[in-house]
Amino acid sequence: MEIAAVCNQKGGTGKTTTAINLSAALAMNGKKVLLIDFDPQAHATMGLNIDNKRSIYDVLSKISKNKCRLKDIIVELDKNFYLVPSSIILSTIEQELSDEIGRECRLSDVLAEVSSEYDYILIDCPPNLGLLTINALRAANSAIIPVEASRFSVDGVARLIEIIDLICERLSHKVDYRVLVSIFDSRLRHSFDILRRIQNNFKEKVFSTIIHINVKLKESQAAGKSVLDYDKYCRGAKDYFTLSREIISGQRNIPGKQVTMEKISEEFKKVTHSKLKEFGMVTFSVSAPAAHSVFVVGDFNNWSMDEKSMLEKRDGIWIRKIPLSKGSHQYRFVVDGQWLNDPRNPHTAPNPYGELNSVVDIK
Ligand SMILES: Nc1ncnc2c1ncn2[C@@H]1O[C@H](COP(=O)(O)OP(=O)(O)OP(=O)(O)O)[C@@H](O)[C@H]1O
Ligand SMILES: [Mg+2]
Repeated sequence: MEIAAVCNQKGGTGKTTTAINLSAALAMNGKKVLLIDFDPQAHATMGLNIDNKRSIYDVLSKISKNKCRLKDIIVELDKNFYLVPSSIILSTIEQELSDEIGRECRLSDVLAEVSSEYDYILIDCPPNLGLLTINALRAANSAIIPVEASRFSVDGVARLIEIIDLICERLSHKVDYRVLVSIFDSRLRHSFDILRRIQNNFKEKVFSTIIHINVKLKESQAAGKSVLDYDKYCRGAKDYFTLSREIISGQRNIPGKQVTMEKISEEFKKVTHSKLKEFGMVTFSVSAPAAHSVFVVGDFNNWSMDEKSMLEKRDGIWIRKIPLSKGSHQYRFVVDGQWLNDPRNPHTAPNPYGELNSVVDIK
């Protein structure tokens, strides 16, 4: 069982979007998930269209008129997906608990009652480093720190990591943090520069999965649903599904083996002529004369839309040569944001979204 606090004291970095959609994606993978809305703004509660009389405040407070236990307020949203709602009154808890001994362990204490029933518990934190975030970190064994690629500040994230380290030291409690690049705009060169800075700073602590900017994530929140419920074929749904797989498989970037643009070209320079024989040069092409952008994404490039997966337009035909290693590879085209399989390739395989990926075999 893993308890993860989704935190960053900076506002609007994608905490709530990540908490909701990663929870939904983990549940879709058959994991039993409890999402705790621990922000008095109650954005996760509203973003899932829940309007409850009682909230986590009534569990933590000693003076609430609706005092209750945690299990009494858990709402079942979907198969495997449960929510603990929040409300604005949670903002008063800090003052209420100010003289209490062990006030930083309140959430951890109440979670002990239910935690064994879930595979994952995600806590959506408020945008500050106050008592609520400290409680969340004290209850958690990991922290997911979403950072917005375009507004990234090393100092801000470093401060949060200091707090996490302080909690580990003072409360003899271990929290393993990971940085998640969120709201990534692959149309901007600037985003790639920032991605490189994040990877250089936090190395193996950065998730391989990147959450791209996608309007469906905003729309789904406004519609009161997870993006997987709203439009399971969109980029946002795919990104959070990929992130859930990365978390479940426990994958890690290897320290010092961070994949940066420079590293990739260095590695390629090192590949000798004989080694090149292990690769097949594949030309991907698609006819889309009216399109503005076309990418080829697949298991060979981590399904990422970036400079290396962008096709070039030649007389209405979009084209790119990519070296692929021996074996079977799955891929799709992304034409103006729409995911399509290769119309000229009859070889396909079903994907988790109920659609087909195109398949190419390198012998
Ligand atoms: N990948 C994305 N693409 C497009 N919009 C996004 C993405 N991630 C988040 N957003 C939008 O950005 C805004 C801020 O996101 P979110 O509420 O998840 O941030 P937050 O860190 O929880 O904010 P707060 O600090 O206020 O709690 C929301 O309107 C959300 O819909
Ligand atoms: Mg939020």
